[in-house]
Amino acid sequence: MSWDLPKQILDLQAQGLWRELRTLDQQGSVVHIEGRELINFCSNDYLGLASSETLREALLEGVARYGAGAGASRLVCGTLKPHRELEEALAAFKRTEAALTFTSGYAVALGTLPALVGPGDTVILDKLSHACLVDAARLSGATLRVFPHNHMGKLSKLLETAKGRVLIVTEAIFSMDGDACPLAEIIELKERHGAWLMLDEAHSVGVLGPQGRGLAAALGLEERVELHMGTLSKAFGLSGGYLAAARSVIDLLINRARSFIYSTAPPPCIAQAAQAALALISGPEGDRRRDALRSHLHFLNLESPAASAILPVIIGDENQAMRVSARLRESGFLIPAIRFPTVARGSARLRITCTAAHRQDQLQSLQKTLRAVLGTRS
Ligand SMILES: Cc1ncc(COP(=O)(O)O)c(C=O)c1O
Repeated sequence: MSWDLPKQILDLQAQGLWRELRTLDQQGSVVHIEGRELINFCSNDYLGLASSETLREALLEGVARYGAGAGASRLVCGTLKPHRELEEALAAFKRTEAALTFTSGYAVALGTLPALVGPGDTVILDKLSHACLVDAARLSGATLRVFPHNHMGKLSKLLETAKGRVLIVTEAIFSMDGDACPLAEIIELKERHGAWLMLDEAHSVGVLGPQGRGLAAALGLEERVELHMGTLSKAFGLSGGYLAAARSVIDLLINRARSFIYSTAPPPCIAQAAQAALALISGPEGDRRRDALRSHLHFLNLESPAASAILPVIIGDENQAMRVSARLRESGFLIPAIRFPTVARGSARLRITCTAAHRQDQLQSLQKTLRAVLGTRS
């Protein structure tokens, strides 16, 4: 490949794959971009916590008590009280012995997989797994095997020939499709073959299960998952990620996970606010917000295969998806087109996400506009 960057840019543009940053005034169900008001149907702030008073206040309190930054990595002098308290609260929430927080969900994956598996081992991934899981599996040096999305027959076959320690990695709710993994079947298979499972609950925690504890909790399977991965960046309304597991796993991660060891600790105010978010998510206010979200999803009646808040509308062609997204924007909606490499070529889509913070009139207006823009599809 040449260094001809303008040509590379033109190529991306011609394929409908060019991306640009947009600046919003703040996070919420109504946002302003370049002076225009848009109804936001693409955020992962599923419970509407990012702009909540609760989290604003918790963050400010955290800054007042602990200052702005952590000052160092966790193992040097960056571990403050809120980090430890948050990890204890997350472990209790996920019903595990321990938990460890990272600066992002991405960093959780990148730190965890190479810390636990390596050359001679096997990582088996669902084809639609998030980029951070794929990157982490590659980084680990383990043999990488991929099964077609949710295809248990193929997973079973791969398990039969897998070498070394075997780790299955999948998402609870798939980020771009909104469907769930067949968790009970995956657990049966991994137990039969003595493999471990890392379950990424990025899009299910806060949304599904008792107290918003996620898909594994919803199915009563929490105790049979070895590695519970999650993010503080979606339903928690903040940023960061965590891995909840047995104490021995967490102790090993503290010693080996490079994205944990060699990165400055998350600001303590974030850890403080994440405790407030967790209390809210797992309490009556969380239930109230989940009820609101469910009734919004019921009203929209789009294809949400797993009661998740992710409603994909597949368009196919990348340029067409861009045009549809532009029309929605002209009509006052922020719903970007999701394209390759986030999803497979030719499967570009609108990824509509619903949150507890949406209002009924916004949902009605979305429904009407989708009908107009997509024809009969909605
Ligand atoms: C399934 C999944 N896992 C992990 C991540 C990464 O989480 P974070 O945004 O906290 O880095 C994301 C978010 O993009 C995701 O969708």
